[in-house]
Amino acid sequence: MATVVIAQKAAAIPYAPIALVAALNNPAVAKVEYKNVASLAEHGNATVALVANGTTLTSVSAILRYIVRSHKNTLYGASAASTSLIDEFIDRSQDIINSTDFKSLDVILQQLNHHLTLRSFFVGYKVSVADIALWGALKANAIFSRQLKTGKDLGVYLGRWFNHISAQAFVAVGLAELAKAAESTKTAKTADQGSFDINLVDAEMGKVVTRFPPEPSGYLHIGHAKAALLNKYFADQYKGRLIVRFDDTNPSKEKEEYEHSIKEDLLLIGIDTSVVSYTSDYFDQIYQYALTLIKEGKAYCDTTGQEQMRAERMDGIASQCRDLSVEENLRRFEEMKNATEFGLTCCLRAKISVDNLNKALRDPVIYRCNLLPHARTGNKWKMYPLYDLACPVVDSLEGVTHALRTDEYHDRNPQYQWFLDNLGLRQVHIWEYSRLSFVYTLMSKRKLTWFVDQGRVSGWDDPRFPTIRGILRRGLTMEALKTYILMQGASTNYITLEWDKLWAVNRKQIDPIAPRHTAVEGLNKVKVTVSGADAYNLKEVPRHKKNEALGNKRTAYGPTLWMDQADCKELEVNEEVTFMDWGNAFIRKIEKNAEGIVTGVEAELHLEGDFKKTKKKLTWLADGPELVQVDLMDYDYLITKKKIEEEDELKDLLTPVSEFKTQAVADGNVAELNKGDIIQFERKGYYIVDAVATGSAPARLILIPDGKVASIASKAAPVTMTEQKDAKDAKKKKEKGAPAAAAAAPAVSGKKAKAAAHAAASKPAPSWTGPGPKPEEIVELEAKIDAQGLKVRQLKTDKADADQVKEAVDELLSLKKQLPIRIEALQSLAAAASAAADSFSL
Ligand SMILES: *[C@@H]1O[C@H](CO)[C@@H](O)[C@H](O)[C@H]1NC(C)=O
Ligand SMILES: *[C@@H]1O[C@H](CO)[C@@H](O)[C@H](O)[C@H]1NC(C)=O
Ligand SMILES: *[C@@H]1O[C@H](CO)[C@@H](O)[C@H](O)[C@H]1NC(C)=O
Ligand SMILES: *[C@@H]1O[C@H](CO)[C@@H](O)[C@H](O)[C@H]1NC(C)=O
Repeated sequence: MATVVIAQKAAAIPYAPIALVAALNNPAVAKVEYKNVASLAEHGNATVALVANGTTLTSVSAILRYIVRSHKNTLYGASAASTSLIDEFIDRSQDIINSTDFKSLDVILQQLNHHLTLRSFFVGYKVSVADIALWGALKANAIFSRQLKTGKDLGVYLGRWFNHISAQAFVAVGLAELAKAAESTKTAKTADQGSFDINLVDAEMGKVVTRFPPEPSGYLHIGHAKAALLNKYFADQYKGRLIVRFDDTNPSKEKEEYEHSIKEDLLLIGIDTSVVSYTSDYFDQIYQYALTLIKEGKAYCDTTGQEQMRAERMDGIASQCRDLSVEENLRRFEEMKNATEFGLTCCLRAKISVDNLNKALRDPVIYRCNLLPHARTGNKWKMYPLYDLACPVVDSLEGVTHALRTDEYHDRNPQYQWFLDNLGLRQVHIWEYSRLSFVYTLMSKRKLTWFVDQGRVSGWDDPRFPTIRGILRRGLTMEALKTYILMQGASTNYITLEWDKLWAVNRKQIDPIAPRHTAVEGLNKVKVTVSGADAYNLKEVPRHKKNEALGNKRTAYGPTLWMDQADCKELEVNEEVTFMDWGNAFIRKIEKNAEGIVTGVEAELHLEGDFKKTKKKLTWLADGPELVQVDLMDYDYLITKKKIEEEDELKDLLTPVSEFKTQAVADGNVAELNKGDIIQFERKGYYIVDAVATGSAPARLILIPDGKVASIASKAAPVTMTEQKDAKDAKKKKEKGAPAAAAAAPAVSGKKAKAAAHAAASKPAPSWTGPGPKPEEIVELEAKIDAQGLKVRQLKTDKADADQVKEAVDELLSLKKQLPIRIEALQSLAAAASAAADSFSL
């Protein structure tokens, strides 16, 4: 059976194969599969590919010939002469497909028209592949379409013939299917949001069996989570079964430790691992199947060295061992099994193809020797099947009905099918989904191991890692992960995803259930003395204003408060502000030291004041025995490059500092939280308790990204020149005391504002429209411009020499150029900061 894969968004749709398959109307011979792409990347960007029995073809003419030859029918002529004639027209159709030039096409069209003068069909008295080939090529040709529409310059016979073929029933069927495929993908959303409603073909209620086959050689990452959760989703949806199978075919890579950790990881995402299977349970059967292949001349033992084998496969050269006799192969395979000196030099290869365009079919290796003891079979085996053989065999033996694979395996699907077919195994449907990959994120086991081995992370559960334990530790909930993965659904668009949507989904999940707490940054925290306040006292207040089910917490009130330095810096004397969850107050006095650091504030309670009328809603903590110390952790990506390539040197891409610790004090209720609890520190963000306080060590909480730009931008990556510049300006501002940025968002830390400034796209905006008065830096620059303008005018009045005037004018221009850039930088900083401030809504 052949599958014709069509790139349904191709500029020139390959209509002929579609029509031919419809004309044969025999799924046992060929069927069409549509892919929602413009070209088939896996087949050298062809618009059509035929995959059958270990063969891949990508030219329309070869595909048409393959289909008609592999099936007895009357479309390919009744005699050698007519068949040859048909071939000639098939070749001609290929010229039409390639022709974008009116003149050369016109010559062909005139010839075709002439040929049809006394004929209804190109060859013989009925439709043949020649007609289908030419019709398909013409239909896809833009020049021809135009001529057909206008009737201009189009030969009458050719036009009549074209309409006649277009009216054939099989053409209508083929086109209808193409239209259906286009319609069904129209509803598919973006890559992050595939169709929610995902289905399997041939899925019967109660009979679907899926499987998740991790190799026990590492910790599971978010990509594995996608596979596991999709498999579970289908098993549940069809009331079937999910098999968790350890693919333990390589003793060199596996460690028992990993089996335990994978089971734990799966439990974390809600997958039952009380029953698991092992590929090693099937070693005896797989061995028997290998013997079958050898006996049928479909596998051979190869002694070719690895390097040479790679080169031969690359160049499509047959191995010198390819044609050994069955007896010799059986003998060699036994030597492999016995691990004799000679046996160890061999590997078993499936005899599929030497030079198929699909390299996965070039005689893949299916058994290899390995002397290491196996965790479960000990020393029984000295050779092990490879994944490519073991997977289809065990899938079939275990009753798997639907095998989910990422599209990275697309090229290996024909190989999988070859094993099923040639071993007479039960068929398994392959369902492809797109591999998950994220910006600034490493997924490769090798690279992650490097970070662990170098001690650059705290372990496999580091919050910066994309491992399941890492992301859960960072505060992602299981529910959010599941929702996100099902949102992507069946999308097979392979792209690198931003992290924002995932964290935004998470925020939606946690916001309604995260109790509200308060923290004040320890560095330069400000003592605020409040007159009119009662003595220190505790009150019960709800943990979450909109979710009573979360119960109450204690809030301490008193005459002495602690507040964030960043907030106090913005206060003005006699300003009315709101102390959140308390009431209004007037600021009566602000003390600053020589560096401008606020060292004390006096306020007067004004509880009658209307909180709707104040601009600043401030968080505070009453000084007293309730307060607890906490460490607030925030993280950056481990690497500074969005998309890492295989050849990238990790060492060049490391983010210099990717862990940030802020010491803070928090309300006393925080002391009662447990590890894993998720809360919100008002106006700061969502946090997950990573460690409770022990002895003198304060509790540690990790900031959970909320999906907003500032929380997911790389804080270190110098992405573009503008962004670099913004960051530099932001830094300068910060060193100077950040008057402008902080005005808009007092509680946002410099690091965050900086990251936000990276992300805020700058637009030319030459006059200040930001909040509050012009920042002093701009005022200063404007003054300089005015002064320089005066100077230029003066020089001109004085008729100074040309060079001198030019120099002054250049200086003036350069100052003028700086103005919009500075304004822009400050504005984007302020805008980003105020956006970030919005996220800490009251
Ligand atoms: C296919 O197209 C992509 C994108 O245009 C290109 O990067 C790639 O090299 C092409 N592959 C082949 C085999 O031509
Ligand atoms: C499939 O390939 C096998 C081995 O190459 C060959 O014997 C068989 O005839 C092929 N079948 C078809 C339908 O081409
Ligand atoms: C048509 O174009 C394709 C790709 O551009 C090329 O591979 C093929 O050889 C061309 N065929 C003919 C007949 O010119
Ligand atoms: C493999 O080992 C078995 C059992 O020791 C022995 O009978 C057989 O002759 C060996 N075969 C080869 C080819 O070495």
